Amino acid sequence: MKRTLGTCYYPEHWSRDIWEEDAARMAALGLTWVRIGEFAWSRIEPSEGAFDWAWLDDAIEVLGAAGLKVVLGTPTATPPRWICDKHPDMFAVDAEGRPRGFGSRRHYCFSHDGYLNECRRIVTDVAKRYGRNPHIAAWQTDNEYGCHDTILSYSDAARQAFRTWLRARYPGQGNDGDIDALNAAWGNVFWSMEYDAFEQIDLPNLTVTEPNPAHVQAFRRFSSDQVVAFNRAQVEIIRQYSDAPISHNYMGRITEFDHFAVGEDLEIATWDSYPLGFLEDRVGASAEDQRHYARQGHPDFQAFHHDLYRAVGKDRWWVMEQQPGPVNWAPYNPAPLPGMVRLWTWEAFAHGAEAVCYFRWRQAPFAQEQLHAGLLRPDSVAAPGFFEAEEVAEELADAPDIGNSQAPVALIFDYDAAWAWDVQPQGQGLDYFALVFDLYRAFRRAGVSIDILPPTQRQFEDYRIVAAPGMMTVPDDLKSALTEASAHVLIGPRTAARDADFKIPVPLPPDWPALDATVSRLETLRPDMPIPVSGGGQVKNWFEHLEGGAEIVFTTGSDMPIVLRSGRTSYCGGWGDDAFFDRLVKDLCAQADVDVLALPKGVRVRDTATERFWFNHNPHDVDSPAGPLSPAGVIRQTLADKLDQVGG
Ligand code: GAL
Repeated sequence: MKRTLGTCYYPEHWSRDIWEEDAARMAALGLTWVRIGEFAWSRIEPSEGAFDWAWLDDAIEVLGAAGLKVVLGTPTATPPRWICDKHPDMFAVDAEGRPRGFGSRRHYCFSHDGYLNECRRIVTDVAKRYGRNPHIAAWQTDNEYGCHDTILSYSDAARQAFRTWLRARYPGQGNDGDIDALNAAWGNVFWSMEYDAFEQIDLPNLTVTEPNPAHVQAFRRFSSDQVVAFNRAQVEIIRQYSDAPISHNYMGRITEFDHFAVGEDLEIATWDSYPLGFLEDRVGASAEDQRHYARQGHPDFQAFHHDLYRAVGKDRWWVMEQQPGPVNWAPYNPAPLPGMVRLWTWEAFAHGAEAVCYFRWRQAPFAQEQLHAGLLRPDSVAAPGFFEAEEVAEELADAPDIGNSQAPVALIFDYDAAWAWDVQPQGQGLDYFALVFDLYRAFRRAGVSIDILPPTQRQFEDYRIVAAPGMMTVPDDLKSALTEASAHVLIGPRTAARDADFKIPVPLPPDWPALDATVSRLETLRPDMPIPVSGGGQVKNWFEHLEGGAEIVFTTGSDMPIVLRSGRTSYCGGWGDDAFFDRLVKDLCAQADVDVLALPKGVRVRDTATERFWFNHNPHDVDSPAGPLSPAGVIRQTLADKLDQVGG
């Protein structure tokens, strides 16, 4: 497939006089896509029922006439002031009971029916008007569900909707649910928390001490379902008027809703990649790595999301917003090392992206994002990112297509598990994403390419290793599918530790077919009390005491088992530091016949069926088996070279 480039453009921010020139410059740069419209509600419908389509008709025509394909966003992430005045209770409410205010974006509550109807109305109008427009080649619903902590809302609308959701989950006679079933499932006999009726159930905020984890987990599942329903409402409308593919732009390390479930309703998953913005407070990197990668971004964080969203998009995915220079919203906002904008773009393609679009075309001289770079400066002079985009466009013009391929290793990512860890972390700062990402990084350091899979996956053919760390609730048919798979399977810590209602199952976890291992006790560890692993590395954060007759693969310095194995199934009871996870990954790869590489720090590879891509995320030169790599260097190696030089 031919990979393409694009940008995000806001014609409503600029004088009409420069639209033609902007469009011509985009086309000359080699861009294919331009995303517009996603925040433009106040200009499309300045007051209720009074539409101004002329400017948007004109903008689409200007862009299309220049040969660009338009991705049109629905404007529902930014309800204008008049809508909020009409529905004063449509604001999301935070856990302290405070309504979010007007004056930025994403201030709506997903459960507010009045707002949902406004969305249906505007999406219908937009889709009717542009659904058959030849320049509209794709759609985007809303913008970044979950940005600014906006999935969980403790509003009255959410409370009512939650009760309805619970009735359906614990069905009884007629339309009412079975409250006794809910009480039993949640264990509400504890602390006299039993209910007589669904109308008594509140949202799990403002309790004296922690609420029942089963209650909170139910609320998390409900909140995710509200996002799915909100998105689906838009999709169903757009489909009536358009055949163009529909996408949504997801984010980095947002786990508050099930992206796989949203993705089921969409043709394309996109995500917004801000490698330097993420580095300081989303990656979880050490202070030393934050310094080392300050201008390059973490070498695994973007790759993880590329692999994740490839799965969410069922193999069709893009980067919808690529950082082109300094951003404005991170704790510190350095400029990228020269070459990194190019590297990030090629890395996305190597992981299978169909398109990479830069955010944004021109830096805005006004409002919240004044200090966020674009491809152009506010005075329309090209910024450094422009020239790197140009370089990629030129390289793409002559480059052979990039093939897709299945990786040897699969990692299951389960949003439900992320909520379960949030609900019951059992220790400060312990979360599911961090655990999965730590293991992912260890595979990457070993030079192994990875596919991320949804928890609904049941086919594991062709994988040599499948890992499902920390997946707290595992349905029986997934246990069976993993047991029957020919792959080596790695589970634990905390895999299968809870049933679907957040209870500890008996027999005790993991209760895994054909694995003679039981978690008899667990403890969490202060950061300053890691447990040494015999032979090297440490267990940090989380440590399970394991019993059973399975083979002992790794032990602590005092001979307690950390990893037990029966046949092809291994259970790891500890959250390893990098040194231990490196050993665990190498042991598994040896068992499963997966080749590993000795990569210099900051160098990563990604394999397709015919090629190996090498990326240098360091600010200095390195030697790689594929040849010298300059800072931000990229080498594209064909399979023949790969076999010759790396020795398979
Ligand atoms: C994204 C968002 C964009 C813009 C950008 C700035 O989160 O979708 O609208 O705000 O960040 O980096």
